[in-house]
Amino acid sequence: MNAYDVAVIGGGPGGYVAAIRAAKLGLSVVLIEGSELGGTCLNRGCIPTKTLLNAAGMVETVRKAVEWGIGSDSITLEWSQMVAKQEKVVATLRGGIAGLLKANKVSHIRGWAKVVSAGVIEVSGTMGAETKVTSSKIILANGSKPFVPPIEGLEDVTYHTSDTIFDLDRIPNSLTIIGGGVIGVEFAAMFSALGTKVTVIEAAGRIVPMEDEAASRELAKALKKRNVTLLTGAKVTAAQPEAERAAVKVEQAGGTSVIASDILLVAVGRQPNLSGLDALPLAMDGRFVQVNEHLETSIPNIYAVGDLIGGWQLAHVASAEGLVAAANASGRQEKIDYKVVPRCIYTHPEIASVGLTEAEARDRGLQVKVEIYSLQGNGKALSMDETGGFVKLVADEKYGEIIGVTMVGPHVTEMITTASAFIHLEGTVHEWANLIHPHPTVSESLNEAANGWLGLSVNH
Ligand code: NAI
Repeated sequence: MNAYDVAVIGGGPGGYVAAIRAAKLGLSVVLIEGSELGGTCLNRGCIPTKTLLNAAGMVETVRKAVEWGIGSDSITLEWSQMVAKQEKVVATLRGGIAGLLKANKVSHIRGWAKVVSAGVIEVSGTMGAETKVTSSKIILANGSKPFVPPIEGLEDVTYHTSDTIFDLDRIPNSLTIIGGGVIGVEFAAMFSALGTKVTVIEAAGRIVPMEDEAASRELAKALKKRNVTLLTGAKVTAAQPEAERAAVKVEQAGGTSVIASDILLVAVGRQPNLSGLDALPLAMDGRFVQVNEHLETSIPNIYAVGDLIGGWQLAHVASAEGLVAAANASGRQEKIDYKVVPRCIYTHPEIASVGLTEAEARDRGLQVKVEIYSLQGNGKALSMDETGGFVKLVADEKYGEIIGVTMVGPHVTEMITTASAFIHLEGTVHEWANLIHPHPTVSESLNEAANGWLGLSVNH
């Protein structure tokens, strides 16, 4: 029997980060992962998509280059090579995690964990061997899997989720995506740039409905320019095979239509992975494992983090929770400040936001004043020919405290941390307006927005 201070279940961005932090805090730690290290983010999510979105971005740049006097007679697209490149990136990062675990003396068991009772875990190894592990504390970081809605006939159709879409052997001619959330739009951006005819079917009135309305409008405009069909307020009521293709029946206010395409991708959200936890009488919060503010579940000494507990299903949130759970497993009493969670969508243009959107602030009854600065006046964006975007600043009307920022445009996912810092430090528009920003950069638009908010803008 192997006895540890902490057992972490799951090697994704919640779990491996928790394991290393717990080890750094002086605890003996075992990390149990049945599959590859890195979880969804590294193996089937953030990193593979960003690598292929980079390839898609290159194609767009080459296509546009001709307008700049740069000849590009023909572009060849080798999907297998793109996927191979992506796999190399993933393998490098996976190796990095294995190295970090080793360097921090975290034991790594490759197998599927079943928590038998608080402190006792049975692991079925991938080679069939069983191991028993005991630990004073357990951190559950089991993650999530794609949610597949009950659509009539869907089981008879070959469909993909974000788990399997990279197994495609070629770039499809046509792709229908059910769900216009983050996964839906990122794949729409990627495949439309690679020449696929993409249709997105979104139940809400607009794509990325959780983001600021103007941001979703700007992205919709950009996707339509790339020939993406966006059906909003649309519900898929049935699916059926049609020759080698997949057909879906779509109901909208205007009537019913049938859309057939080579590939169907279902991207309507994710659900927690609860396998291995059924013997535990965990209190649940809807579909998710309930935790208190210290990330402890209803069972003492068992903590849970990441997609298992719902909230923001983002890798960086899982990691932040992993750090807090590790600290608390070592006897501290830490909490997370969810007020400052940056959200990034890696489409073209990118969307990045932090804090409250204007609608959320008004719904909460906050007295806010809003300033929008369009990238059409930004020299760097103009020089890049990427002016489809803006900065939207939401600040408290009386004191100017920054409450939320939404940005759309090039590099905004890299810039949003400045906004996070202001919100974290309770900074004001006055302070932001006085901060010298480098010229020419897209980041100047943040400073322009702050000055605009004060009625003192020079450049707009
Ligand atoms: P999501 O919750 O972002 O979007 C799902 C969308 O599907 C929603 O807009 C919803 O209105 C729509 N929908 C639901 N049922 C539908 C139906 N039957 N027909 C048509 N539309 C329907 O979920 P998604 O895109 O699957 O992503 C899962 C999670 O992964 C999210 O929490 C997301 O934050 C995370 N993620 C984050 C990324 C990032 O940070 N860049 C990238 C990809 C995923």
